Amino acid sequence: MTFGTIKEQIEKLRKELEEHNYNYYVLSAPIISDFDFDMKLKELEKLEQEHPEFHDANSPTHRVGSDINQEFTQVKHKYPMLSLSNSYSKDELQDFDTRVRKLIGDEFDYTCELKFDGASLSLWYENGELVKAVTRGDGEKGDDVTANARTIRSIPLKLKGDSYPDSFEIRGEVLLPFQVFAELNKAREEAGEPLYANPRNTASGSLKMQNSAEVARRKLDAYFYYVLGENLTKDGHFETIQEAGKWGFKISEYTTKCKNIDEVFDYINHWDSARFDLPVATDGIVIKVNSRRLQNNLGFTAKSPRWAIAYKFTAEQVSTMLESVSYQVGRTGAVTPVANLTPVLLAGTTVKRASLHNADIIEKLNLHVQDVVFVEKGGEIIPKIVNVDESARKPEAEKIEFIKHCPECGTDLIRTEGEAAHYCPNETGCAPQIKGKIEHFISRKAMDIDGLGQETVELLFNEGLINNSADLYNLKAEQLTSLERMGEKSANRILKSLEESKSIPFERVLYALGIRYVGETVAKKLANKLVDIDTIINSSYDELVDIDEIGGRIAESIRSFFDNEDNQSIIQSLKDQGLKFKLSESNLEGRSNKLEGLSIVISGTFEKHSRDELKKLIEKHGGKNTGSISKKTSYLLGGSNVGPSKLEKVEKLGVQVISEDDFLTMIQ
Ligand code: IVH
Repeated sequence: MTFGTIKEQIEKLRKELEEHNYNYYVLSAPIISDFDFDMKLKELEKLEQEHPEFHDANSPTHRVGSDINQEFTQVKHKYPMLSLSNSYSKDELQDFDTRVRKLIGDEFDYTCELKFDGASLSLWYENGELVKAVTRGDGEKGDDVTANARTIRSIPLKLKGDSYPDSFEIRGEVLLPFQVFAELNKAREEAGEPLYANPRNTASGSLKMQNSAEVARRKLDAYFYYVLGENLTKDGHFETIQEAGKWGFKISEYTTKCKNIDEVFDYINHWDSARFDLPVATDGIVIKVNSRRLQNNLGFTAKSPRWAIAYKFTAEQVSTMLESVSYQVGRTGAVTPVANLTPVLLAGTTVKRASLHNADIIEKLNLHVQDVVFVEKGGEIIPKIVNVDESARKPEAEKIEFIKHCPECGTDLIRTEGEAAHYCPNETGCAPQIKGKIEHFISRKAMDIDGLGQETVELLFNEGLINNSADLYNLKAEQLTSLERMGEKSANRILKSLEESKSIPFERVLYALGIRYVGETVAKKLANKLVDIDTIINSSYDELVDIDEIGGRIAESIRSFFDNEDNQSIIQSLKDQGLKFKLSESNLEGRSNKLEGLSIVISGTFEKHSRDELKKLIEKHGGKNTGSISKKTSYLLGGSNVGPSKLEKVEKLGVQVISEDDFLTMIQ
């Protein structure tokens, strides 16, 4: 095959994959299966690896991000990113309309659109390709988050058609859809990690994560609503946005032109309630004068355009009575207070409970029993108490004090410095913690025990048949069939699945143990690095924090888990049952400690291996791959096109630069 055709083949695949991305993420109308998509992507990855000379930062293969930590550089915005002036009533909107009419007369249209509640992002395109993505920052300067933006599937990396201007900027909002937010929090709950408060903060936090591979897993979405540039062909803002839709951007289908302020009011009335059915958070409506020529005539104040205004929805609020506060104990022992309310209708659903999160929130609200409280449904899915009517409080009302003892087992609760949550430390003796740990152990991503679920675990625990996950392996068929609604067939299925789980790889067993803060990724990291359970058990805090991506909080939690004697005996029983507590041979093959103690930074593009492969090789041979050059860096593994700032830094710090071949010789 000649070079020309390989290049063509790569380009064809890139184009095809981008088109499928567009169909799936922008139009929500995929035309090929996920499997076929993955096969094509793998084919492209292989060709790109074999032919690094055709490297392209905007290839669809870059949408999965990279594990290498990045540093963000600040970029000055070409046009400052201003905000909108806000209005909260129709009177204020009427005033806006009057002001506009005074300045430009009566011959104009408005565009009405949803005000998305996420993180704003500015994208720069040159000759149809994404060249930069910048956060709002302070409006003058923002962070360059291009690598992260590339992982957002609804952001086009190359534009469609040929009607786009050579150079332009487009702004929009990065959002975490409600459903993805809920899934993310569920996973965090399972890993015993603190929950995220709302989709907006999580979206803007995600956009600034150092690890773009992690951003890719977040499933962010983006809608675009503002095009800027010198060579735009259409005068209308609405018409320009429709054009942007043709270039491949995701634009809101609900953007509409209105002839006058009464039509604007109709739009607001509709969306005030219809917005609850949208998959993403919105917090108002944006009203813009449509013609860009008239927008220019109106101009800007120092802070915001005179041609646009936001109408903010007021979150629906109702008052009800706080009847009591109850406390739930989770798998990791975290105690969550929940407000029990007199049932009340709010935004279409009956609300009986509201989350109170932690002791600080109870204290801040100064809650008393039988208080009249105001409940609101904001970006959060569970309603929250936002205020208390203190004037309605009876003088003898009892103040709510956070409990001191575990409501389930009576143990004194503890609260670690700097943490908001209270914990019950009785890990192996507190019923919800024991049951929760067993449920986690059998869950799909852990030991994946077929036929066992929350209800059966509850029954087995109540019958005294299991008290920890190791006890599962001693269960007999007759013990199972003695349970309500459990036939022989189901019992055998459970036993078979338990038997099969003995071949589940070590990293999953480690995850299944349910150590706080040790989710799937951390478990994998620990297993790959330390190889077997005894090495992990015998690692000191210092040795643990030395591992890439293991911070103090995680290390502390690992130590305290293995220092607990009950946990030690559970692990011993699981070992005796034959579960895997060591990495498999195939995983261990080719490992060495030739790079022990070395910290290596990778930069540029390489001929024989991809950056991800090089990173894996460094780790396989006991070295550490880090993202930025510091005094501690041993080598810079440099390919072609190493960034000038990196070269400057190695020179300044006297760090040695090695080539791909030097590196391969080192590990031979
Ligand atoms: S137009 C010059 N349109 O609201 C103003 N902004 O308070 C250009 N936003 O920073 C912004 N949805 O993050 C515009 N349909 C929409 C919007 C929108 C959300 C955000 C945006 C901006 C903030 C302004």
